[in-house]
Amino acid sequence: MKKDKKDNIILIGFMGSGKTSIGIRLSYKLQITVEDTDKIIEVREQMPISEIFKTKGEGYFRNLETALLREIRDSGVKKIYSLGGGTPVQLQNQSLICQCGTVIYLRAKPETIYERLKRDTTRPLLQCDDPQERIRTLLSQRSKIYERCADFIVDVDDKEQNEVLDEVLSFLPAQYISRTEITNDNTGAKRYEKDPSDQRTES
Ligand code: S3P
Repeated sequence: MKKDKKDNIILIGFMGSGKTSIGIRLSYKLQITVEDTDKIIEVREQMPISEIFKTKGEGYFRNLETALLREIRDSGVKKIYSLGGGTPVQLQNQSLICQCGTVIYLRAKPETIYERLKRDTTRPLLQCDDPQERIRTLLSQRSKIYERCADFIVDVDDKEQNEVLDEVLSFLPAQYISRTEITNDNTGAKRYEKDPSDQRTES
């Protein structure tokens, strides 16, 4: 791992790619606290993101994201963070994200995202006449940025959350997984404790 990187785990990706739920599962597995930056902002502002967009504007929200990234970079506590889907877009945020920790991009196709979010009303950017087209446009603008920020990319389409989680774990440097490793069998393969939340189906 690069010297100038903190040892947080940072999940990035488009809305609906599963950052929040994979973050929670990862937290369980690694016994590391997880934080969702959207939630932190909502608690501090005492209103939902959609309300922040409506009353204070997107620019205000984006400034809060940047300030929060600086806090994460400067914090001494190792955590897992799920970032908002638009956080990596601002140029200044990209180097901050890389400094914050190991960055994992949960990559999803536009069709997957649309299927997952077609009934969602909490994402202000998708409350429009043609959300499918908006997803396609935003994703085409953002995918190179996500890829550039990422240390590792995990494709999530058509995968169960357990599979995504296992892939994420397989990419993490050993220092993160030593606490969950329970045995090395004769083949030398590492095994992990079963996550009791495996039955959940949320995206
Ligand atoms: C946004 C993604 C949202 C939230 C806000 C803007 C974006 O987060 O930060 O609605 O620009 O893609 P999630 O990715 O957690 O939905």
